[in-house]
Amino acid sequence: MLAGKRILLIIGGGIAAYKSLELIRRLQDAGASVVPVLTRAGTEFVTPLSVSAFAGVKVHQDLFDLTSEAEMGHIQLSRSADLVVVAPATADLMAKMARGHANDLASTLLLATDTPVLLAPAMNVRMWEHKATQRNLSLLKQDGVKVVGPNEGNMACGEFGPGRMAEPQEILTAIANHFKQGPLQGRRVLVTSGPTHEPIDPVRYIANRSSGAQGSSIAAALRDLGAEVIFVTGPAEVPPPQGVTVVAVQSALEMEAAVKSALPVDAGVFAAAVADWRVASASDQKLKKSKDGLPELVFKENPDILKTISHLEEGRPPLMVGFAAETNDVLENATAKRLRKGCDWIVANDVSPATGIMGGSENAVTLITEGGAESWPRMDKVEVAQKLAERIATELGAL
Ligand code: CTP
Repeated sequence: MLAGKRILLIIGGGIAAYKSLELIRRLQDAGASVVPVLTRAGTEFVTPLSVSAFAGVKVHQDLFDLTSEAEMGHIQLSRSADLVVVAPATADLMAKMARGHANDLASTLLLATDTPVLLAPAMNVRMWEHKATQRNLSLLKQDGVKVVGPNEGNMACGEFGPGRMAEPQEILTAIANHFKQGPLQGRRVLVTSGPTHEPIDPVRYIANRSSGAQGSSIAAALRDLGAEVIFVTGPAEVPPPQGVTVVAVQSALEMEAAVKSALPVDAGVFAAAVADWRVASASDQKLKKSKDGLPELVFKENPDILKTISHLEEGRPPLMVGFAAETNDVLENATAKRLRKGCDWIVANDVSPATGIMGGSENAVTLITEGGAESWPRMDKVEVAQKLAERIATELGAL
């Protein structure tokens, strides 16, 4: 079932750590190889000797273990796996992950890894239900981290409720599901995201407002359906998802070049808020205040990337999806935009300040295709992304 898969198993400090020994056995029985990492708190519950005896290999414990650093640096360790599993994932480990701390081996590996991560949380009910933990959980999910459990039941601390770590068999099933081939397996999809920054001089730029949240969620949703995702992103606030090929750009010209070199693809989703103009001759030195008055900026039009790629005679992706961020006459403008840009679909949304969509976590979109307009109810940007990814998979004949 998991033949040839390499699992980096991080065992956190919780009473459920003993179950991780059984998980190691089950993973090995399923054909996976396991590299174990034990946190300092984890050693209070299981010994390094028992973990390495079960795994049949050395257990990694210290960030500054020089022998290990020589054999295999922590960066390499974090990337040599097909999946990182954290079981038990304590409230503390989740908080560190959500905030990007790296002050021990486990948190450093989790920050340095570019492989997908699966958490099996385990903690006291109140800790699990605490707003801080739920906030961290939601941040981690936005980052594409997968979660199995926790289950409800009697806990070692005598309380009852959610917080028990999922059973080894459930964790094994979640791991197996992760490796199941999605419907978009073998398909290559391009996603553009974020704003572009158009330099005025080395310290100033003009840009569009965009957090990159919607683009990131779309890339993650397509990845989850098994697609190979090329994620061309401007300087966004939201980090790119794990498990996609990230091409970071600054300006519209750089984005256009990156998009062209990502071709051929089966579908292109253009969620970036590209600046329509750039400063014609950006200064390579900082503009100084002068007595002669204000600087005059002369603008030049940027290439319309969506339009250019939609009109390619050779190499046009079979499905081109654009976005239309409008503040008024949304349907009318977006319908006209679909025809003008030559793309197949337009995902239209109302970004007028009253909607709170720009920079918020929700979106209310209308999908405009050749067949007409279909309004989706207002929902989380992650759900919009999943629905759109499924529509793309259906359109490509993969679902
Ligand atoms: N787009 C693009 N390249 C540009 C401008 C926009 O690829 N230079 C793409 C966006 O990624 C989005 C779509 O075109 O998918 C529509 O972007 P939008 O800003 O709404 O449209 P504009 O063409 O800029 O039209 P207008 O500003 O006139 O509404």
